[in-house]
Amino acid sequence: MAAQILDGKALAREIREGVREDVARFQAETEVQPGLAVVLVGDDPASRIYVSNKERACQAAGIYSEEHKLPASTTQSDLLDLIGRLNRDPRIHGILVQLPLPDAIDEGAVLDAIDPAKDVDGFHPVNVARLVLNQEGLRPCTPAGILELIERAGTPLRGAEAVVVGRSNIVGKPVAMMLLHRHATVTLCHSRTRDLAEVCRRADVLVAAVGRSEMIRGDWIKPGATVIDVGINRQADGSLRGDVAFDEAVQVAGAITPVPGGVGPMTIAMLLVNTLTAAHRQVG
Ligand code: GUN
Repeated sequence: MAAQILDGKALAREIREGVREDVARFQAETEVQPGLAVVLVGDDPASRIYVSNKERACQAAGIYSEEHKLPASTTQSDLLDLIGRLNRDPRIHGILVQLPLPDAIDEGAVLDAIDPAKDVDGFHPVNVARLVLNQEGLRPCTPAGILELIERAGTPLRGAEAVVVGRSNIVGKPVAMMLLHRHATVTLCHSRTRDLAEVCRRADVLVAAVGRSEMIRGDWIKPGATVIDVGINRQADGSLRGDVAFDEAVQVAGAITPVPGGVGPMTIAMLLVNTLTAAHRQVG
């Protein structure tokens, strides 16, 4: 039997509609409109599309948003000055600096400079520590969206075998930690993992975040597993492929996210959730 398709687009729409209602209520009660600042340095075309999608999503949810587009030649010191101003700006409750940054800028120094209370990406070391300690903080958007999708699939995590392929700071590490906090037994794999296919075959929940087109084949998947594909790999013909060979995997898995329309739309929905959460905590 073919797998249940986890429709991230539909779930993201529901979440965004919920945020829109909550924003209206928050604004009526506090007379404060939640605000997000998005900072884009340079003109990476993919980043530009992400940033304009974020802007549109904010508008639809009733969140104030401002975009700071800076040239690739921007100095680290100018970028840190801007972040300092946004940290002090009472209209701004969330700050997102689109990654990657140009090589001349130290990404760590920039992320460190964001007020952890406004760090809607959850990349500041304070928020990373809060995630590891399972304390209240802002959680990275893509991993948070992945957990929503797994929950929606009805997949039990307590005692389950969860395998995460890819150890990035943005997806792999945080999602592994979130699965662990939900009492899964977590294996975090990467390019040096021995017998990767064999490890994947153990997974009740498989999260693929490697950035390699269709690397994970159908026969790597345990029958009935929940498969979350974080890959967005553009092909020569312009189409998008995930990290999982979907046509094979859909025959074996119990539930699977498509690419596009799976994890991608959830990231923006969770950004709106984080911006509203940040506003709540700052306005009290
Ligand atoms: N670049 C790719 N993914 C992300 C993300 O989630 N946040 C930011 N700021 N940049 C990214």
